[in-house]
Amino acid sequence: QQVNPFDYIIFGATGDLTMRKLLPAFYNKLRLGQIPEEARIIGTSRTDLDKAGYIERANEALERFIPDETKSPELIERFLKMLNYITLDGTKSDSDWAGLHTILAESPKDRIRVFYFATAPQLFGAISENLSKNDLITSHSRVVLEKPIGTNLDTANAINNGVGQFFPENQIYRIDHYIGKETVQNVLALRFANPIINAVWSSEYIESVQITAAETVGVEGRASYYDTSGALRDMIQNHLLQVLCFVAMEKPESLEADTVRNAKVAVLKALRPITDKNIASDTVRAQYTAGTVGGNNVPGYVDELGHTSNTETYAAVRAWVDTPRWKDVPFYIRTAKRSAEKVSEIVIQFRAEASTLFGKPPASNRLVIRIQPHEGLDLRLNVKNPALDTFTLRTAELDAPLLIEGQPFPDSYERLLLDAVRGNPILFIRRDEVESAWRWAEPILTGWSENKAPMETYSAGSHGPAKAEAMLASNGDKWHENME
Ligand code: BG6
Repeated sequence: QQVNPFDYIIFGATGDLTMRKLLPAFYNKLRLGQIPEEARIIGTSRTDLDKAGYIERANEALERFIPDETKSPELIERFLKMLNYITLDGTKSDSDWAGLHTILAESPKDRIRVFYFATAPQLFGAISENLSKNDLITSHSRVVLEKPIGTNLDTANAINNGVGQFFPENQIYRIDHYIGKETVQNVLALRFANPIINAVWSSEYIESVQITAAETVGVEGRASYYDTSGALRDMIQNHLLQVLCFVAMEKPESLEADTVRNAKVAVLKALRPITDKNIASDTVRAQYTAGTVGGNNVPGYVDELGHTSNTETYAAVRAWVDTPRWKDVPFYIRTAKRSAEKVSEIVIQFRAEASTLFGKPPASNRLVIRIQPHEGLDLRLNVKNPALDTFTLRTAELDAPLLIEGQPFPDSYERLLLDAVRGNPILFIRRDEVESAWRWAEPILTGWSENKAPMETYSAGSHGPAKAEAMLASNGDKWHENME
């Protein structure tokens, strides 16, 4: 259904994220009839452009980034009419704030106003301050913050304090686009709407959990950002810990945002700290060397960069959630650039049935939640082998696609953009989540910077370094691609 009319003000409106993700997401919501006629999107950035120039860029972006099936000239025209643009340096108090003021003053006073910060996070505080000085923050305003929120706990606190001086926490919406994915949200439905799943969701039945986000791409045009970040900061501290929270949290009493977020914080706080004692055995960091991805030869990371680097493009951690439900269940988390394939998934490996009724023990049950691509679920069961007159077993896969035929999956930003208008923060990250995630991740980064776990290498196009396989083998486990 339609949301209330809104003014969305995007800082960083000419950037890659806006063009590639935000404008196409708004377009799709307009197409689905969820955006009312009066809604407006006001782009701002330092780039000297007028409204017509911005509309031209937006038009090119839609042409490039929306699928042909959803392109319609009338809709595109309607969409472009929603746009406005003002050249503004959000960090400077003497920039054209009056211009933005004038545009916003055209709307009724109680119009929902969402400021979207798609700029470098160090600028968030200064932009907030200028918004406040110029009286642009109303009681109907919200601010959406893009990742990364800091590079460690201190810098995250600096960003949160900078914004928090001018926006109360309940007006701050921190985005993590992984929770915008339908397949991640579906973990809650799967667990809490299905007694047959819920009943076995603990260490009594589950032997291990794997959470993977692997990509075939390298660092593309983002080397200057990526080289100061690395795989742990870029993917694990935020996206994969959020996925872990959905898998591991206790059942929230309601779907009220803070109830769900309390349940997630409890998981983050229960993560066993990685210390100097276990950093070498429970974490693996690595960089890709030259190799072949999808049939193409690609250079190694340092050759791509043009200089040496101590930044990991692969990270794997054996994590433990110290709650009674997850006693002795390892959570293996990993992410990689230039991996063999693009896949994000959760693998729930169940304990083997010890019975020898059928001769040798049956294979373990396994549930694979395919976050992307081929969004769906795969459940491995033991069945009787019909080819034999004996009670011999074989395995069969129950494959449930999560897509509804004829309906493309919404992009992860679509719901998030409008949830900020709706004032529903359920899928956004609360400040204490960011802090708890950094409290767990930071000692790993510190230990790595002190060389407490060596930098490994892996060939581009492989599944990662041998050390990551050894880490699982020490528990008698294997990564998904090596499982029978
Ligand atoms: C971003 C990271 O947050 O997520 C990128 O900064 C990464 O490095 C991307 O490529 C992956 O997102 P997705 O949705 O393609 O898995």
